[in-house]
This record gives sequence, structure tokens and C-alpha cells, in this order.
Amino acid sequence: MPASPRLYADSAVVDEVSPLLAGRLVHGVTTNPTILARGGRTAQDIPALYATWEEQGAREIFFQATGTTEEALETRAREILALGDLAVVKVPATATGFPVASRLAHEGHPVLLTAVYAVPQALAAAAAGVRYIAPYLGRLRDAGHDGLALIRAMQEQCEGSATDVLAASIRSPQDLVDLRAAGIPFLTANPSVLRDALVCEASDAAAADFEAAAG
Ligand code: E4P
Repeated sequence: MPASPRLYADSAVVDEVSPLLAGRLVHGVTTNPTILARGGRTAQDIPALYATWEEQGAREIFFQATGTTEEALETRAREILALGDLAVVKVPATATGFPVASRLAHEGHPVLLTAVYAVPQALAAAAAGVRYIAPYLGRLRDAGHDGLALIRAMQEQCEGSATDVLAASIRSPQDLVDLRAAGIPFLTANPSVLRDALVCEASDAAAADFEAAAG
């Protein structure tokens, strides 16, 4: 087994993320432009979200850089990193994103290459020295791939490097378990999936019995 597992909340809905941070159930929060939009947020809300989650005890906070040129992407990435020590910048794993991610990583900045779909991209990311790569389990499966096998192969490419796999697009508690069993220590999922991972009818019944016995 690799490093101790870490869970992250993949959401920009403060009311859903806050209880997970308050309960120390997640290590941090991951977002991207789609997640911000789903939560009714825009890039303009990023500084306020960072401040909120920092205050609530997040240990890493991820925001994604956007831009169609290297220059635009790098400028935005540096703005995100300037939010503070907890900021991790997400950069798409594209021909434009790779050099930006690699330059920032070589300066010592925490960078996550996101939307990693192919095993060679994992090798290239590990060679570039980025902190994390994010493959999407659910979306790989949607595309007809054996997502778990691909992510396991990506993990193998990262072994012995400074890069860890932080798996995303996780849609059920069983996905969390399967990824961990495949050797993936860092996992980000919607708060509803994380909440579902905490509960089991038999546990609730046992707790109810204890309460009844305690009077
Ligand atoms: C993270 O960056 C992804 O957008 C997210 O995990 C995707 O999840 P989904 O494929 O279930 O929408």
C-alpha cells in the first residue's frame, strides 16, 4: 500500500464543503471552471473561496488556470499561486499546458496536471516534476476504457517520482475503495459521494441499539 489515503472535496458549494472541512474529513478542496459554474461561482469568486476554505482548515486548495496560449495560462496560474501557501494550481494536460506546468514545477510551485487521459501523459508529468496528475475515472469509463486499469498504469509511471495521482471523476464510495486498492492514495469526489462513504445502514442500526440501551 502507498501513502496514507487523503480525501478531497470536489466542489465549490461552500455549504457542502464546510462540514467536511469542519469535521476534518477532507484534506482540501478541488475545483475547476465547471465545478465553479455548477456552484454558481465564477473566477471572480476565487479569492473569497480561498479565504473561506483557508479559514475553515483546508490544507490544500485547488483552482484551475485557463487560457488558450502559454502566456495567458501562465499569467493566470501565477495569480492563483499568489493566493497563498495552500494554493495548488491546476493546468490542463495539453500541449499548451505541459510547458507551463513544467516551468512552474521547476520553480518549486505546486502544480496539478488535470484531465490526464493517457498513460504516456503520466510519464511526461512525472518527468516534468509536477506534484499531482488528475485522471478522471468516471469519464474514462464513459469513454469505454478500463478506467481503473489505466489509472493503475499511470500510478506505475509516477512511482519513484515526486508526482502522485489524485484521481477525480469518482462517482461512488466503491470507486474510492477500488482506486485505493489499485494503489491510488489521493482521491477527490463530490461531497455527496464522500458523505455516502461514511454511512451504512447496519452501523446506523447498531448505533440506534446502543442509544436505546443507554436509555
Ligand atoms: C475534476 O476536475 C473533474 O471535473 C470532476 O471530477 C469530474 O467529475 P464528473 O466526470 O463526475 O463530472
